[in-house]
Amino acid sequence: MKYYDLRSDTITKPTEGMRKAMASAEVGDDVYREDPTTTKLEQLAAELTGKERALFVSSGSMGNLISLYINGGRSNEVLTASNSHIIQHEIGSIAAIAGVLPIAIEAERGVLSADQFSGKVKGGDYDMATTTLIEVENTIGGYCYPLQNLEGIKDFASTHDLKVHMDGARVFNAQVATGIPVKTYASYADTITFCLSKGLGCPVGSLLCGDEAFINRALTIRKMLGGGMRQTGILSAAGLYALENHVERLADDHAHAKAISDSLVRGGWANVDTEGVQTNIVFFTVENLSGKEVVSQLAKLGILANTEGDMVRLVTNIGISDDDTAELCSILERFQPEAHV
Ligand SMILES: Cc1ncc(COP(=O)(O)O)c(C=O)c1O
Repeated sequence: MKYYDLRSDTITKPTEGMRKAMASAEVGDDVYREDPTTTKLEQLAAELTGKERALFVSSGSMGNLISLYINGGRSNEVLTASNSHIIQHEIGSIAAIAGVLPIAIEAERGVLSADQFSGKVKGGDYDMATTTLIEVENTIGGYCYPLQNLEGIKDFASTHDLKVHMDGARVFNAQVATGIPVKTYASYADTITFCLSKGLGCPVGSLLCGDEAFINRALTIRKMLGGGMRQTGILSAAGLYALENHVERLADDHAHAKAISDSLVRGGWANVDTEGVQTNIVFFTVENLSGKEVVSQLAKLGILANTEGDMVRLVTNIGISDDDTAELCSILERFQPEAHV
């Protein structure tokens, strides 16, 4: 049976062109800061995000953790959406390792606005924590942050002397979907991470970007966390290749997600968050069936999906072609879920 893997965009494998770029990469010891390909990637990342400097890190989680470690700080609080990746999927590392207490804010699709922070900023009392940071995720569940919200958040942060970190794991998806450059999104945050290993199709790696002083400190914290790697040029070459060749093609993933969402609506058996489908992620629920039950029924048809709470999640990616999408849509349209027994 043919399988369509829509569990995530992290499951992608390097393309032939990417493998060639990796094989011929010039390398050096990056802990000595002597890897020319990594230096080139970091310079490009700084340029693309409009930040002074960037640092190659092993994962999005590590990038977020380092930023929260430095700009959050032990015993301090960070304001973030309750469904943010740092709360839901990073194993409490920001509390366990960075020592920061996340204050979870409920928001539709996880998109925060400044008015939700009112009364939540603490500081000054000897027996209370201090709020130091706001964390936003863009895209969040595939949804692009409206600039208006980011503007309000930035103003609020500067009024209250807070820093802003953007988990931009999929910020290139946002750029392609909205036409708003990554640099513009990043301008609303002091620090930003973006991932190479998701829609951009690389095997490993993320970039953490910020000002000179922040990145100097980040270098130390990365080493402390065991994240100092040696001949990283092999991985950075994949990143450079992806930033040159795999950004514009994200539009295909977005078109595929929209087609899948439309076919689910036509099928009539799923409640789809159609408005939320702005990039490569589709969320839906099925009446009287848990997300896990739906995922297991879809797997029998060769469609691999994931759950997020009660919802089923499908993520389009570079491994799903136009033809795959047409076949998938036809399967989904004809599918009739078996009732819960
Ligand atoms: C929004 C978001 N942030 C951060 C991460 C963490 O990235 P990594 O798996 O590279 O640690 C992910 C991973 O899926 C993610 O979806």
